[in-house]
Parts: sequence; C-alpha cells; structure tokens
Amino acid sequence: MSQNDTKRSNGDVFSSPDRDGFLHRAFMRGAGRSDTAVRRRPVIGICNSFSELNPCNAGLRDLAQQVKTGVTAAGGFPLEFPTISLAEPFIRPSTLYLRNLMAIDVEEMISSSPIDGVVLLGGCDKTVPAQLMGAVSAGKPAVMVTAGPRATGRLHGEPLTIDDLWPLSDRRRAGEIDDEEWQHIEGNLVPGIGTCNVLGTAVTMAMIAETLGMSLPGSSLPPATSGTRAALAEATGRRVVDLVRSGLTPADFVTPAALENAFRMLCAVSGSTNAVIHLEALAGRIGHRLGMPAMAGWSRTTPVLARVRPAGPHLLEDLEEAGGLPAVLKELTPLLHTDALAGTGETWAHVLDRTTRGDHPALRSMKDPAFPAGGLTVLKGSLAPAGAVLKRSAADPRLWRHRGPAVVFDGVADLHARIDDPALDITADSVLVLRGAGPVGGPGMPEVGQLPLPRRLLRQGVTDMVRISDARMSGTATGTVVLHVAPEAAEGGPLGLVEDADPIILDAVEGRLELDVAPEELRRRTPVAGAPAPRRGYAVLYRRHITQAPEGCDFDFLTATGEPSVAHPSADRF
Ligand code: FES
Repeated sequence: MSQNDTKRSNGDVFSSPDRDGFLHRAFMRGAGRSDTAVRRRPVIGICNSFSELNPCNAGLRDLAQQVKTGVTAAGGFPLEFPTISLAEPFIRPSTLYLRNLMAIDVEEMISSSPIDGVVLLGGCDKTVPAQLMGAVSAGKPAVMVTAGPRATGRLHGEPLTIDDLWPLSDRRRAGEIDDEEWQHIEGNLVPGIGTCNVLGTAVTMAMIAETLGMSLPGSSLPPATSGTRAALAEATGRRVVDLVRSGLTPADFVTPAALENAFRMLCAVSGSTNAVIHLEALAGRIGHRLGMPAMAGWSRTTPVLARVRPAGPHLLEDLEEAGGLPAVLKELTPLLHTDALAGTGETWAHVLDRTTRGDHPALRSMKDPAFPAGGLTVLKGSLAPAGAVLKRSAADPRLWRHRGPAVVFDGVADLHARIDDPALDITADSVLVLRGAGPVGGPGMPEVGQLPLPRRLLRQGVTDMVRISDARMSGTATGTVVLHVAPEAAEGGPLGLVEDADPIILDAVEGRLELDVAPEELRRRTPVAGAPAPRRGYAVLYRRHITQAPEGCDFDFLTATGEPSVAHPSADRF
C-alpha cells in the first residue's frame, strides 16, 4: 500500500481482503470482537471526553454505552476512543489555552482513524467547541451528544445553582458567612455529575450545537442523569449511521446561515459571552468570518426571550418546560434562516412546524420580550478599536451609560494583592481595569473578567461596578463586565496605556467604549510590557499562532484554507 493512499482513512479497511484489512480485523478480534462485528459498516468512532479529571463530563462513560447500542441497532460498528478533556475548575492557566490543542486532538483522531463517522461526547465548556472545531475540520459525518446539566441543588429550601457562587463569595468576603455555613455550601453547590446547571458556557454551547444541527433537536437541556438523555444518546447512535449513509458532513450543517442562527439564538437566550469567541473560531474553520459589525447588527435586532439564570430568575428546567431550544427557535423564526439543517437532517422549518412550546415565563415571546434587543452588546471605541463584548442583560441598567475614573490592575496577581487594600483610592463610580489577561497575556484569557468588588464597597452595599478587561468571564457570572477588549494590552492595545484616574466612558446603548484621554497624551505614554516569550513546548506553538478574540482565538494555521481536511496517507504499519 502506497504512503500516499488516502482511501483507507475510513472503515472500508475492515472489509478489505488485503493484509491491511486482515490486520485490522485480527487486532479487533484480539480485543474480543466477533468475525461478524468487525465486518459491519459503517464504522463509527465515539469521541469521548470522559475524564475523572472532569466531573462535568463524568456521565459520558454511560452515555457512550447508549450510543453504542444505537449504532449497533442501526447496523454499524461502534468504537470508542478518548481525547484530552478540559475541566473549567481545574485547568490552568485556562481551558481556552488548551481548547485548540483539544481541537487538534479531535481532528487528527477522526481523520487518521479507520472510521466512517463519529459521535462527539462533550460537555464542560471548552470540550464542546473543541470537538465541533475538530470535527468540522476533519470533515467526516459527525453528530454530538452533550453531557447535560447537573441537578439543581438546594440551600435552606431555595434552589442553589452554580451562579450563586459569585454572590455567596462576595458575602463570604464581606464576613456574612461563617466557616460552618461555608462548609455546608461546599457540600451542596455541585449536587451531582453533569455540566453547570444554569445557562453558562456549557449549556450555551450545547444549544449552539443543537442550533447548528450538530446534535439532535431537544438535546441541550435534559438533565445529565435523566432517562431522556440516555435515550437521546441511543437515538444519536442510530442517527450517525443514517448520517454516514446520507453522505452529509459538518460542512452541510455549519454554514454561514447556521452560524448567524446560532448567534441570534445566543442573543435571545442571553447566553455566555464565551460563545462569541467559539462561534468565530467555528466560522474560521469553514473559511468564514462573522465579524464584529455583523454581530453588532444581529444583536441590535434580536430580542431577549429567555430569562434564565444567570441572566434571569428562572431555572434551566423551566426553559425545558417551555419547550427547550426548539421553542426558542420557533419564537425566533422570523429572524432565522429556517432552511438550515437540524440534527435530524431536515430543515429547521420542518422541525419547527411540529414544535409546540409550553407556557412558562422562562421563555417570552417576540411580541413581549424580556428586552427588545441587545442582550449581548458589541462595543467599539478608542479603548477597544477591534471590539469588546458586554452581556448587557446581566448588567445593572444604571451602569449601561457610565463615565468614571480608572483603577488599573496589571494582571491577576496585582488585582488580588490590592483589591482589598484599605488605601486603594476607589469609589462605586470607579471603573476597574484589568489588563495582561488576554489571549497572549493571560495566556488563554482566563475567566477573571468579573473582577471582585473591593470588600470595603461590598460592605457599603455596592453590588455592581463597571469592570473592563482583555480577559473572559465565566458564563455563570453577571455584572457590568466588559470583556475580550481587543487588541489586548500584551499585543499593544490601548488598554496598555490606561493610567489610574483616566476617565473611561461606557455607552452600552450606543455600543461605545472610550478612553477619554487626548491622543497626544497617549502618544507620550509607554505601554505596559508584553508577555515574555515562552521557550519550549505547546506554549511556543500557542504564542506563535494564537489569534485575538475577534478572530476566535484559533491558531492561524487551523482556519480553513480550501484544502480538504481528510488527507492523511495511510502508512503500512508493519
Ligand atoms: Fe464544567 Fe461548568 S465547570 S460545565
């Protein structure tokens, strides 16, 4: 077999009469597969990001079994394989730093393995975009099952969800929660396996996968351990076999129209700001750019319909009761490209025709939205020439238009060292600025953009302030938090020129973020130093090729080039 033979990067090899086919079957039979099983087609990879280092994805091991049942029932041959897995609470400096590494892992395993299609099993925040990016670039038929949200906890008889962490932390810092109560909360905050139980990044990305047709309709919200999710996994196993037989690949689903649908859905549910970065990265994988101007326009014309934690009072199960993602899209129909494909392979128009919505205030109507528009606001101005984002629906409306003096922190260590310093010159009108936390400076834009408020102000009853950074924030967080300022300070952005007491103007209604300092004064200033260059390992690759937030923080060499992705020669192995 020639080193340049590309025909064997799929399951055909298992039926081949030559030595390569013989060896594939022999090794699988050695692993306990029958002579009949190893000749079944299609061969379906199950790309599993289960890891004991990622409790959010802990249910994926069981869901993989359900997927296998579905694949086998449909006549396919399922083979599960692992990839790296990224857990938000544990990975440092950030999971975004490793998202592209996981996407490479996923792409290369799909491309290089003798499989005809793949089921992606992801959950915790970055595992979903990493799998989608890798699958789009690999180009084989792919469909996703997400881990599903964990159960809602209880605290003193009230629902306890992960976004409660932030106000509880503030109360702890203000001295209002003692050690015993804090221990009790620790034991109840995460009441089971599954992803975060609010509309944070994980559930937002699950809803985006569903909107893109990369998972089955109705699959985003059922709880991690529910029978519904197990049945969805089995149905996905059957679906991927059909998908392979139909010849549809991710390029048929992840189109410019589908990405616009996904962005509008993101605005309508007030989803995680992280998704803005991931959608742009996905767009790059098909050689497309969404672009800040287009996103600003879609945001301005998309009403906010969902009022779910953290950007509303309701729970995920309330949104599910209202009909879940299909009901959201049904409401949004006038704004959508309904000829885009759903996960069943039908157009969304067909799926939405038979969708009914439940009656729950967690989902408002287009005629009576929670906000007329602009849940996610794209900002531009002299402080963010290439753009920034703000989840306006989670910000205090009194701060949507604000002018205040800057209090500047150079990196997270400086922030933690000084934020509670009694000598810090700060009032509730100050604008907290954090820099050195962008794609390069962080590195990986750690989720530190929701800067803690000074203890002194917390004790005075202050609950929100304008905060600005080149970092990201957790999808579970809230506040008047301007994120993803680009270019970042470490790459010469004007954020690196800000000094204490400089006036900063935020206008979240008009989409402006201005540093109100004369240009000639800024030219006299010395920008903060960039991040030191790494000398070895993945850090070098990352630093050389990472793009800024408006380009999706993908590696420049991973965006589409027009070359087919599946082009791996299959070398003789012996
Ligand atoms: Fe894993 Fe939120 S920390 S989904």
